[in-house]
Order: sequence, then structure tokens, then C-alpha cells
Amino acid sequence: MSVDKRVLLIVSGGIAAYKSLDLVRNLKNAGIAIRCILTPGGAQFVTTLSLATLSGDNVYEDLFSVTDQGGIGHIELSRDAGLLVVAPATADIIAKMRAGMADDLATAVLLATDKPVLIAPAMNIRMWEHEATQENLAVLKARGVNVIGPEEGDMACGEYGMGRMSEPDALTNAIKNLFQGTNNRDTAINCKRNQKLAGKKALVTSGPTHEPLDPVRYIANRSSGRQGHAIAAALAQQGADTVMISGPTNLSNPIGVTVHRVGSAVEMFEACKRELPADIVVCAAAVADWRALHPTDEKIKKNGMVPTLELTENPDILSSLSQSKSNRPRLIVGFAAETGSVVDKALDKLARKKCDWMIANDVSVGTKTFGGANNTVHIVDQNGIENWPEMSKESIGQRLADRIADHLNTNHD
Ligand code: CTP
Repeated sequence: MSVDKRVLLIVSGGIAAYKSLDLVRNLKNAGIAIRCILTPGGAQFVTTLSLATLSGDNVYEDLFSVTDQGGIGHIELSRDAGLLVVAPATADIIAKMRAGMADDLATAVLLATDKPVLIAPAMNIRMWEHEATQENLAVLKARGVNVIGPEEGDMACGEYGMGRMSEPDALTNAIKNLFQGTNNRDTAINCKRNQKLAGKKALVTSGPTHEPLDPVRYIANRSSGRQGHAIAAALAQQGADTVMISGPTNLSNPIGVTVHRVGSAVEMFEACKRELPADIVVCAAAVADWRALHPTDEKIKKNGMVPTLELTENPDILSSLSQSKSNRPRLIVGFAAETGSVVDKALDKLARKKCDWMIANDVSVGTKTFGGANNTVHIVDQNGIENWPEMSKESIGQRLADRIADHLNTNHD
């Protein structure tokens, strides 16, 4: 197994450590070799034996006795890996990484490495929200550390909120992407290459919305979220502090992006407002235009009559942010998913919604835009129309992030 495809996993002390066992199994199944370091805190939650059995390798725990375990010191441990992953990453280890401490094996390895690092924070919501943790993370991100999660949900401490570690499947995908990225200079995620959006905040909407009719049924659309997720990932790669408000999708959270998952258009709108002010907004979500006026708490039953749905219009997030009198983000980008005469319709939509750029794409049957890997778009703004060739949604995300950065860096208004 080449070094390029080996993960050095540091398991620190949080209840989410149990998920690292599944992560080890997943990575092995994906053909990625894995070697583990278990911190004293981590050892309170998972055993050396289970990590050793699942990884098929020694587990390293002690900075000073490491040379007794097969002759590998902390420098070699990092040298032998293509990627370092800290999962779970507690508030404590994050603070130590920021401070450059090296008082145990895990922190010594993290300080001694020149390899990409991915951390998966997991902690109580108050610890997550504490200024100290947020400041530490901002510094680590600026140094090029990749961050995935945390997710929102029920917590072991009985509270609800941000702080759950990302699931092993999402971590596995992120690790695979990082390995792909480090093999491809253009998409390398962990490199402090010219981060043109450092210091800027970006807000992205993505995916469809689900508008409930009753507890089991909803109105939805075919959006997969791939384009919005790719844009959020690209903005984060360029150093923007990126928050994505996503409707229901099957996609994992992009690396380095803070994700809030919502269901309906109204929830998406409220979540967006909570994230203002922002410098950049990209509305890539396919927001449902209407919702049921009276969704029922009880399932609607068949009673011989066909029910009549009374609909009401949803708030237009793009329009509302573009026309806000205070706090208007500097650059607001919308999407115009159209069939036939897409550019003309996008021009009309640009004028109506008053955003700065409109990205027109054809979603006619046969284009496979919804759910497909590729997209063909036209960027419409006050200066005219730029036609981009068909390319992957990831490439569109990167090119758009570059265009946004160039625009903001040359127009200092
Ligand atoms: N949009 C939004 N909120 C809505 C509807 C749309 O933020 N309630 C945003 C989308 O994210 C996209 C843009 O507006 O950036 C255009 O969305 P689209 O569905 O193409 O336009 P609609 O406003 O729904 O217009 P129509 O359905 O009449 O084409």
C-alpha cells in the first residue's frame, strides 16, 4: 500500500469515538490502509484491541514508548501516511492544535506533520459555540486544516444542536475526496493555494425543499443538490467562511462547510436570515414555489373524494435578500433553471429578482441537469452573457468561486 493511500487516524476522547470503529471498517473496505493513534481520552471510549483488530495494525498510544512498538517514532507515523484524520476531534485537541502543543503522541504527530489534515469536531453544543473553539477553528482553517462537520442533532448530553460528529459514511467520502484532491493539483483541497476568499463569508442554498401536505406526504422537486454543494465546497476551498443551508439531499456535507439542514422553504429562509450578514450569497436551491396553506397533522385519508389542495406562495429568498435595505450582501448570485430560451428567461429573472448575477441552465427533459454530473451554464450579469462549455458541476463550482473572488477583489465598493 503506498503512503498516498494510508490514513493515520487519531481517536481522541469523546463519546463519538465509537463511530471511529465504523470509519476504520469503511476505510478498509474502500482499500485505504489505516493506522490508529488512541489518546488517553479516546481510550476511555474505545479499546486498543478493537482498533487494532479492525485496522489490522498496531495502535499507538504513548509518545515515549512508541519506539518499542515496531520501531516507529512520531515522525515516522506521520511520514508513513498520506492523510491525518482526527475523529472525533474534541475541543481540547482542537485547542492544542491551534496552540502548537505537543505533549502527547497525537499532538506531537499533528505538529510534526506536513501532510494534509482532516478533523471531525464532536462536542457539546456550548463547547462548540464557545468563542474559544470558534476562534481556534478559524485559525486551523486558515492554516489549511480541513474540517468536516459537526452536524446538528440530538447529543449524548441530552441537548440538541450543532456538535455531533459527522457520520462514518460522510467521513469516508470526505477522505476519498481528499485523496483524489491531493492527486489532482487543480482540486487539491488541503493546500493554502492562493485562498482568494479568505476573510469573506459566503452563504449558499442548495437542494430541493419539501413542503408538507400531511405527516407523510410533501411537494418536492428533482434537485439533487449536487451543484449547490459543489459551489459551497469550492467557496470554502478558496478560504471563504462558508455556510450552506441545504434542503433534503442524499449528499454528504462538503469539507470545510458549515451545513444547516432544513425541510421547507420557510425554514430555509429563516436559516438564511440567521446567517446574515454575509459577503456572498449563492442561491442554488430549487425552492418550491408553493406550499400547502393548511398542512394537516393527521394523515389525509381516502374517503371517496379527491382532496383539493389549497396552495400559498413561498417567500422568495433570492429576491428578498437582493432587495433588502440593510445588510445586503455585496454579491448575490441566483440560478435560473429554465426550459427553452434559457438566457432570455434568465435576463428577465435577473431584472425581476434584482440579484447581481444569474446563472442560466437548461433543465429540459434529456439534459440530465437535475441529478446529473454535468451542467452547461450561461452567466448573465449587467455586462452581458458569458457562455461556459459543458463541464462537471465541481468544475462549475470552482470556476464560479474564482469568478466571485476576482469580482470582489477588483470591485472594492
Ligand atoms: N429562489 C428562491 N426562493 C424561491 C424561489 C426561487 O430563493 N422561493 C431562487 C432560486 O434558488 C434560484 C432563483 O430564485 O436562485 C430562481 O429560481 P427558479 O425556480 O428558476 O425561479 P422562480 O422564482 O421559481 O420562477 P419561475 O418558477 O416562475 O421560473
